[in-house]
Amino acid sequence: MREAGNVKPIYLDPSQPVDKRIEDLLSRMTLEEKIGQLCQYSGFTSEYEKMIMEGRIGSLLNVFGAEETNRIQKIAVEKTRLGIPLILGLDVLHGYKTIFPIPLGLASTWDPDIVRKTASIAAAEAAAEGIRWTFAPMVDIARDPRWGRIAEGAGEDPYLGSVMAKAYVEGFQGRELSDLSAMVACPKHYVAYGGAEGGRDYNTVDISERTLREVYLPPFKAAVEAGAGTIMSAFNDLNGIPASANPFTLKTILRDEWGFEGFVVSDWNAIGELINHGIAGDIFEAAEKALKAGVDMDMQGDVYRRTLIQLVKDGRMSEERINEAVRRILKIKFKLGLFERPYVDPERAKRIVKCKEHIEAALEAARKSIVLLKNDGSLLPLRRDIESIAVIGPLADDREAPLGPWSCLGDPRDVVTVLEGIKSRASAETRVLYAKGCDVDGESIEGFKEAVEVARRCKVAILVVGESRDMSGEAACRAFLGLPGVQEELVKTVYEARVPIVEVLMNGRPLSISWSAEHIPAIVEAWFPGIQAGYAIADVLFGNYNPGGKLPATFPHTVGQVPIYYNHKNTGRPPSPDRWTSKYLDIPYTPLFPFGHGLSYTRFEYSDLEISPREVEPKDVVKIKLKVKNIGDREGDEVVQLYVNDVVASVTRPVKELKGFKRITLKPGEEKTVEFVLTLEMLSFLNHEMRRVVEPGLFKVMVGSSSEDIRLTGTFTVKNLVEFPWK
Ligand code: GLC
Repeated sequence: MREAGNVKPIYLDPSQPVDKRIEDLLSRMTLEEKIGQLCQYSGFTSEYEKMIMEGRIGSLLNVFGAEETNRIQKIAVEKTRLGIPLILGLDVLHGYKTIFPIPLGLASTWDPDIVRKTASIAAAEAAAEGIRWTFAPMVDIARDPRWGRIAEGAGEDPYLGSVMAKAYVEGFQGRELSDLSAMVACPKHYVAYGGAEGGRDYNTVDISERTLREVYLPPFKAAVEAGAGTIMSAFNDLNGIPASANPFTLKTILRDEWGFEGFVVSDWNAIGELINHGIAGDIFEAAEKALKAGVDMDMQGDVYRRTLIQLVKDGRMSEERINEAVRRILKIKFKLGLFERPYVDPERAKRIVKCKEHIEAALEAARKSIVLLKNDGSLLPLRRDIESIAVIGPLADDREAPLGPWSCLGDPRDVVTVLEGIKSRASAETRVLYAKGCDVDGESIEGFKEAVEVARRCKVAILVVGESRDMSGEAACRAFLGLPGVQEELVKTVYEARVPIVEVLMNGRPLSISWSAEHIPAIVEAWFPGIQAGYAIADVLFGNYNPGGKLPATFPHTVGQVPIYYNHKNTGRPPSPDRWTSKYLDIPYTPLFPFGHGLSYTRFEYSDLEISPREVEPKDVVKIKLKVKNIGDREGDEVVQLYVNDVVASVTRPVKELKGFKRITLKPGEEKTVEFVLTLEMLSFLNHEMRRVVEPGLFKVMVGSSSEDIRLTGTFTVKNLVEFPWK
């Protein structure tokens, strides 16, 4: 409806500066309307319709479809006093309708360009249907694979996580938020949600400030520096103060140190849950603590709506703090162009969603995400005219699992299963037989007999095993990390058939597949590869695509080895064959598969490492150069990884830290020079006084094909202490 009268108010005049439009609109709003902007609800009901018309809702999530979002938006724009558009949000983590590999799979590409591309496509599809805000990227560092949400992020490393966080934000937000294909990003879950004790979702997080700043905060800082417009505060208690009521993280770090200007939305009822945490006696105290700490919008808690008028009347909340939150939210709405273009064109959306280019990108991303864990005797790649193939396992012809958790509007009917992919890529003469063998979970082994019979009739057996997609993601933690149900027994039973086996894993977390790792000659980690799963996996199995992915998270021998991650401290007794060192009696002290691990169908030779200067002055950067040559007979990708160790410092430092990586493609015989530049700030850490410094001394450089497969080493020496400001 917007205010009657023929003079266009400033807030509706796009030629006016945004800040002026915000102030003009704010000056026209009642306190109820201001509070309405801070309230977000899930879905659309007649009650919400009424609340929207009364200006008491600023955002909805979980509504979708161009016609539906237009219909809802019209209520806010044309049937309210001021006509403030809603901002519609959705969990678009790894695709909207064109579904890409889960983020842990995308991280396994070690290719920020493909991550940016998939995010950009997801934004184009979602924005075309009126969704202009995604609750992504999830940038929580995860060192514990029992935690189901490890599937949603980039794994265990702060540097890899930071590079991916930046790529997602750039992909989702594009050049301008007002672009028709842009969505505002929402890095989550701020902060340290992945540090939950026991890897149990929603559990307590108690970590040092040094660990908070050096492990969990960096990807959020990278996302903010990339221009993320919003942030989501987490469920977890952080060192005694829940993340959704924590002034230290929400104000001191986010606003004062980083200068973040966007708005903070709580996670689902995280404000209301402050009562469960025991830091609020009622919803009034919860609202007061959350809003004062810095949470601007209440997702689905209905707490702000029920309390803020009273809190203002009681003098417990200033209208100025409410105005500050409203300004931040309106700024994003203006930047998105929602006031000028609140509606979308359903015909345009139909042309964009799942178009040919998007499907092709899904195949490219899926191929790049696949990690070759083992390939003894070069069993892979298979000849495409191989006489017969047995495709076995509960995930071999499953349409749901490849979509993974948080698959947005992904449709199983769009999925290419592994069986379909193999049939499509094998020669017409190849006999492809199938047996499910067993379910993903459950005890029945009735299908084993058929599986063995099928295997016995073929030259090779492809066993597709792993997790269902609801065994990872939110509220999906597992106390054991083996293959669920009787799948390992299936593998062992088929193994008795004495036919060569390729094990294909579809899973949302590192798995302790130690028996397979010892007995099965070839193992392929496919994660949940999205709608082109079958084609991508078959392309790898037949060598149409040479796998180049690398693990973004460590695989343990068993759950008892957790937490195990590559950038650990050395301790006073680093693990060794000597008894009196830090290890377990009953398992090896190395990981099953290390961070950064991934094989190829070709081989790469590293040579000619150069480090300059060797004596580093404060003004210097350290240039690291080396050569990598493809000495095999087929083209392939290699992810060249640069690790650094600060040998002696005022506090204990990790034995190695990833400080650079490059995924390069080399033809057979081709050699490339790879260069890295290390700034001193990249080497900085928090010293014994919690000051950000680089201290003088020796630094080890390690370059290799994984965190364990180090090919070249060298050193440099920093000459002087250098300190860096927090900001
Ligand atoms: C969930 C998740 C969060 C998601 C939100 C909206 O509880 O924790 O990641 O964005 O609710 O679906």
